[in-house]
Amino acid sequence: MVDGGRLWRRLSELAEIGRSESGGVTRLSFTDEERSAKDLVASYMEEAGLAVREDAIGNLFGRREGRDPEAPAVLVGSHVDSVYNGGDFDGPLGVLAGIEVVQAMEENGVLTDRTVEVVAFTDEEGARFSFGMIGSRALAGHLSSGDLEHTDGDGLSVALAMREYGLDPDQVDDARRGQGSLAAYLELHIEQGRVLESEDLPTGIVTGIAGPVWLRFSLRGEPGHAGATPMDRRHDALAAAAEIVGAVEEEASSSTAAVGTVGQIEARPGGINIIPGGVDFSVDLRDIDVAVRDGVEERIRERAEEVCARRGVELGIEELQRLDPAPCSEEVRSVISGACEELGIRPHSLPSGAGHDGMHLASLCPMGMIFVRSKDGISHNPEEWSSKEDCEAGCNVLYRSVLGLAGRG
Ligand code: GLV
Ligand code: MN
Ligand code: MN
Repeated sequence: MVDGGRLWRRLSELAEIGRSESGGVTRLSFTDEERSAKDLVASYMEEAGLAVREDAIGNLFGRREGRDPEAPAVLVGSHVDSVYNGGDFDGPLGVLAGIEVVQAMEENGVLTDRTVEVVAFTDEEGARFSFGMIGSRALAGHLSSGDLEHTDGDGLSVALAMREYGLDPDQVDDARRGQGSLAAYLELHIEQGRVLESEDLPTGIVTGIAGPVWLRFSLRGEPGHAGATPMDRRHDALAAAAEIVGAVEEEASSSTAAVGTVGQIEARPGGINIIPGGVDFSVDLRDIDVAVRDGVEERIRERAEEVCARRGVELGIEELQRLDPAPCSEEVRSVISGACEELGIRPHSLPSGAGHDGMHLASLCPMGMIFVRSKDGISHNPEEWSSKEDCEAGCNVLYRSVLGLAGRG
């Protein structure tokens, strides 16, 4: 069994890096905070006896050799970057639980047939560049040089941020792992929903991950005098945006599982007495069924065109990312289910609305995820919480699942 006290202490320690006065955690990719978090995680990996290395995109690995070092390894982990003012558990739980699993194996003298690697992926959240899963994309060979041109709020590109961080963007292909190099990818993560709470269960088995589409809408109207321009002579980009934001909510609500969010909006020039001439806003659309999501997107695009034509506003839509939903592997799900049963936890399966690095890993190897109960389903919020007992239970499910996938030597 794992040491739940040690896991909890490390979770608390890591959560202090990037802690803001408001209580949340902000650790954006390629920043000093992310560097400090990875340094702390590397020190835990060393305590666990792992061989530590960082790849060309900054993914941090800790490796424990199996009996057969040539056999494909089992990869376990998550991320340590966060959203703006996020919580303590989203990402760190999976990385620290992975380390706890191999440390417990070391202490219990358990040798596995396959090598087990623990990973802390670079930039899963996409908070800084509005484009996420950079580390897992690179690992799966899904990161193009064009992707490195995404910019942050200060106009700095991923490529430049990498250089400032000490990484060479021309070398990202070195982070790629070949087909057949991994036996499985497994991630422990908080649920970020209310299903497990309502089922009264500490853990659950993920069936698949919903696919996100991220879009940037750019509206160009006409700036003008707020006092002197009659209402019927305006081309107000913000008033047009308001109608479209309403359409996003309505269209996403028209299907049971689809979700739609406008999380960023900027109106220019931003004067109290100036009609807004330009507005940029983001749209995040997801569903576990890609046809439903794409239907919602199509209707939003049609409505946005109608709104802008009627108001004499120019409309531009840029696609920031588009990922298909990723089903979890049946084989990995059944290993996790067996681990739950061994621990006396009723196996319960549920989909993930949130995105995860496993979406990219799924093209390389069988992928699976274990969820830990979240309090009130709150996440991407400083109030995000899972209990010490549930984190320990999830880590024990992970321990047995890793044993199942890596083979007890
Ligand atoms: C990350 O948590 C995402 O799902 O956007
Ligand atoms: Mn996460
Ligand atoms: Mn997240």
